[in-house]
Amino acid sequence: MPESPLELLDQIEASALSALGAVEAEDSLEAWRVAHLGRSSPLMGVFDRLGGLPKEERPAIGRRANEVKRLLESALAERAALLRQQALERTLLGERLDVTLPGRARPRGRLHISNQTLRQIYRIFAEMGFQVYRSRDVETDEYNFQLLNFPPHHPAREMQDSYYIQAPHAADNPIVLRTHTSPGQIRAMREYSAADPGNPPPVRIILPGMCYRYEQVTARSEVQFNQVEGLAVGEGITFSDLKGTLSDFARRMFGQGVRTRFRAAHFPFTEPSAEMDVECFVCGGVGCPVCKRAGWLEVLGCGMVHPVVLSNGGYAPERYTGFAFGMGSERLAMLRYRIEDIRYFWGNDIRFLEQF
Ligand code: PHE
Repeated sequence: MPESPLELLDQIEASALSALGAVEAEDSLEAWRVAHLGRSSPLMGVFDRLGGLPKEERPAIGRRANEVKRLLESALAERAALLRQQALERTLLGERLDVTLPGRARPRGRLHISNQTLRQIYRIFAEMGFQVYRSRDVETDEYNFQLLNFPPHHPAREMQDSYYIQAPHAADNPIVLRTHTSPGQIRAMREYSAADPGNPPPVRIILPGMCYRYEQVTARSEVQFNQVEGLAVGEGITFSDLKGTLSDFARRMFGQGVRTRFRAAHFPFTEPSAEMDVECFVCGGVGCPVCKRAGWLEVLGCGMVHPVVLSNGGYAPERYTGFAFGMGSERLAMLRYRIEDIRYFWGNDIRFLEQF
């Protein structure tokens, strides 16, 4: 037993503080408060007994008792704050969301390089006033060849060996997958001229789409590819309109500095006919493996629409003239991006497609 009330207060203080130090959970603090500061705590017992003490001892003991009370109260507040802080830190750690982790990449689709190239071609011709005309993929021999001035058995058909569909009723007009977009010239001219047969309106269109040929597949030939056909028909259209339009197209497609040249060629449905080359943009015209030392790359066939084709389309050749051209858009993309093998386009290899 302590000798004096002051010693008792020292003991009360020491044991209360050490008990407080052992409290680890916030909800045990209340029990500690009841035990050490509550009505029936030893400290309150000291206050209760103050009145029975000799008069001269009372102030010192009262002061000390009050001091212990304040000290325990502030120790309790401090402990409470500490435990609250620790609990908060535990929750923060436990529920931590690390926002610095890289997110899961969302695979993003994109346009196939062929469609990108087609759209670029549309844009360029749209600026020159050409509209897109969609024609069919499945054609008849008549539209694909005959109306374009390829009679049956004409040797020029050999350049475009086709897929024919066995159809007994088709007789001498078999169904073919179009070998080029040129049959669309006839379809478009017939549609336009039907609107006003005596006075057909001018035509300024491009005809894009897939073409099919029965080819041995190599790095340079595929059994399917896109072409963009162009057709302008009107009064007074000349070969210089053709040259101007196509040279301007080449500059917009390949760069303002690019040079072009036209070489004589032959197509049954144009007269005169030409092929347009652009200066090799790999070597700048000096000669390299890409242009096979020629310094030039062939990009399209073109010519003035043949009079027979004009009249097959309902346009009187005495009054109307026009020009037409056809380009392989995968071929343009190959030149532009130096793709060495046309088979990549339809091979569906994501490693190729992702590069564009
Ligand atoms: N149709 C021709 C081809 O596929 C290209 C061409 C179109 C040539 C229009 C002249 C005019 O080879």
